[in-house]
Formats: sequence, structure tokens, C-alpha cells
Amino acid sequence: MMNTEGPQISKSKLLFEESKRIVPGGVHSPVRGFRGVGGTPIFIESAEGTKLVDVDGNTYTDYCMSWGPLIFGHQDADVANAVREAMARGWSYGTAEPYSLELATLITSWIPWVEKIRFVNSGTEAVMAALRLARAATERDKILKFDGCYHGHVDSMLVRAGSGLAEMASPDSAGITTGVVSDTIVAPLNDLEALERIFQLHGSEIAAVIIEPLPANNGLLIQQESFLKKLAELAKKSGALLIFDEVISGFRTAFGGMAEITRIKPDLVTYGKVIGGGFPVGAYGGRSDLMDLIAPTGPVYQAGTLSANPIAMTAGLATLKKILKDPPYKRLAKYTKKIQDELKGLVHVQASGSMFWSIFGTDEPVRSLTDIPAQQKQVYPKVFHELLGRGIYLAPSGYEVSFLSTAHTESDVSYLIEAMHDAAKRGRP
Ligand SMILES: Cc1ncc(COP(=O)(O)O)c(C=O)c1O
Repeated sequence: MMNTEGPQISKSKLLFEESKRIVPGGVHSPVRGFRGVGGTPIFIESAEGTKLVDVDGNTYTDYCMSWGPLIFGHQDADVANAVREAMARGWSYGTAEPYSLELATLITSWIPWVEKIRFVNSGTEAVMAALRLARAATERDKILKFDGCYHGHVDSMLVRAGSGLAEMASPDSAGITTGVVSDTIVAPLNDLEALERIFQLHGSEIAAVIIEPLPANNGLLIQQESFLKKLAELAKKSGALLIFDEVISGFRTAFGGMAEITRIKPDLVTYGKVIGGGFPVGAYGGRSDLMDLIAPTGPVYQAGTLSANPIAMTAGLATLKKILKDPPYKRLAKYTKKIQDELKGLVHVQASGSMFWSIFGTDEPVRSLTDIPAQQKQVYPKVFHELLGRGIYLAPSGYEVSFLSTAHTESDVSYLIEAMHDAAKRGRP
């Protein structure tokens, strides 16, 4: 077992230095750079089940699970076999093929509000296309989003609440034009009054409201069902489309995601992560009258060289079929409940199904960005490194959730609880 001084990671350090010379920040997606926790990112050489093995030979139990897609853990045998068989048939045809049809059939037959579906390569692409479609269908320009939700790096979604009125937005990245910002309205989560005011002021201009029905990108900001229901009602009344961004929650909280759990029927839904079983897949779908506006049937253009890649489709199909055969949700929720219960009083854990988020500095439910205690920023990095030293890999940011997979065992979870317990005590400010 590793000591709490931290693992020996000299090869990772060398690779990081080399990478920084030719890759911005040394990584291909920002959080991987460990800026949120400090230190050097560990370079992973291989992974199996729950275990990550780094280039220095250290082993870690993984609670990031590639940011959610791997609901059955790394190298699940059923997914791996399906992919091996698919590889033997060739890996990109750039034409119509039966594999995406099988996946589309499976999804549309189990999720009635997805009458038609289009596969893309990432969650970002799915969101971008769904927003374009909503604007075309409603002939309106504005999109309402929520502070604290993440929808990928689409320009119009890299916008946050400004410092004044909640709905006055400002860019969340350099390179976003003022024109784009002015078409995005930003509301706080968990605030019915603000929502009503925004619809009163802008209802007739809003093409779509997009929300993560289980916001899981700034911690796990679990919303009350009454808030989501009111949102759906206001959107409908004003003629705006409701888009559920279920890139994380789709197939992970329930097969039909949060729409199934809340029984709120979105007009459009976006998927990613679990839908591709760890391969690059995104999808958007919903009402067929809307989806028929997409090219080549309709005037809304959207395309992709590698869209519906047969290997990725096969991995997604194997994953979703395995979920349907033996739904893992209750089992995984039991584990997150155990984590929550056994850390009570020391760490506030917000959990939903197979996801959990540890918060330091409060015992109260955290439902919006402004509720997140400032202490999180100081304490989480210490806890992260304490756990890393004990062979546990959490997401390298205090604002990211942790994911369980069916590969995690009861003893993994007990070890995590014990380690969190010690780490939280040591990490107190
Ligand atoms: C809710 C949500 N939407 C969209 C995205 C973007 O997906 P991708 O990273 O596949 O582009 C993410 C990614 O984490 C997400 O969590």
C-alpha cells in the first residue's frame, strides 16, 4: 500500500514536462492538468476494472471512470469482446451501416420521448446541434441556461451570470463574441422567482431552455423536482423548447436518465458518455417533428466524418444492452448511500445514484453555485492528495463528481470511506 507522502511519480513528471512543451498546459482537456488540486498529473498507462496503473507502476482505484462513461469499469469483458469483433469488420465506413441503426432502435424503443435520434462524436456536438435545431424550429434566437450547469464548449454555452442582474450574462472564456453572449440568458439554479421573472421579461424570445436535470459539473447540485417541473411548465407556456442535457445523467441515473426519473418529457435531449461505453459518442434526439428539420430531411445542417463510427456504436450498444439485462442502478446507489451515511458529520456527501460529491464546510444541501462553501477550494486539494497517496484516484477538482462502476466492490467502498475519514480529519483548515 502506498504511503500518504504521495506516490513516486518521476516518469509522470518527465512526461508532463515534455508534454507542456508541445501541448497547451500539457493536457488535452483542462481539468486533467491538476490545476484544481496542484501537483503533477499522473500519466496512466493502462486500466482494468477499477484500477488505473500509471507509467511509474503505481496502482489507483479509480473514482473518475473517464468522467462517467465507464459504468461497468475499465475493459469490461462484454464491451471489449463486442469491440474486438467490430474491429475485425473494419473501423470506419463513412456510409450507412446497420450498427447505428441497432443502437438507435434500442434507444427509441426504450425511451418514448426520443422518437428520432442522430449520433455525433461528443456531448459538445450534441448540444451545439440541439441548440441550432431549437432556434430553427422556434425562429427565436435566445437560449436560457443555468449558472452551474455545463454543456460542453459550445460558444453560446460558455457564458455565465454577470455580476449584476442574474440574467445579464458575461463570457466564461476568452474568444466569445458579445453577439453570442447577448443571445444567452443565464438563470441561477434553484431559484423559482428568478425563473419566473426571466420568463416574464424574455419568454417570447426564448428558443430553448437547456438544463442538466441533475447538474453534475459544479459538484452535484441536486435540484428539487418542483423546480424542474416549473421550468418545464414555463417553457411550454412561452413556446420555448425544453432541452434536457443528459450527457452525464442519461443511462447512468436510469436508462431514460432524469427524464425517466422525474417523468418530465423534454422536447429534445442530448446524450454522451455512457451511450458510447467509453468511446467518443454523443447524440441528440427527441420529437420527430423537430428532428425532421435536420439535414438531409430539413434545412438545419449538421454532419460528421466519423459520426456513428461503427466501433463506437458497437461499444455503446454492448453497454446499453448490458444495462438493460441487469440494471446496475440500485446496487450502485446503495454504495453511494453507504459513503454518504458513514461520512456524516465529517464530510457532507451529496449523492445521486452512482454519483457522489464530497463537500467541505457545510452540512446543508448545496443546490446552486453560490451555496458552495469557499472552504471547498482549500480543503479538497489536500484530501485529493491524501487519497492519491493511499492509492485512490478522485477527479482532480473539488467541483467534479465521483463516479462508481459495477467493478467497484464493497471493500473498495469501505476502503474509500476509511481513507476519506482520515484525509478529511487531516485536511481540515
Ligand atoms: C452535461 C454535459 N453536457 C455536455 C458535455 C460535453 O460533452 P463532451 O465533453 O463529450 O463534449 C458534458 C461533458 O462533461 C456534460 O457533462
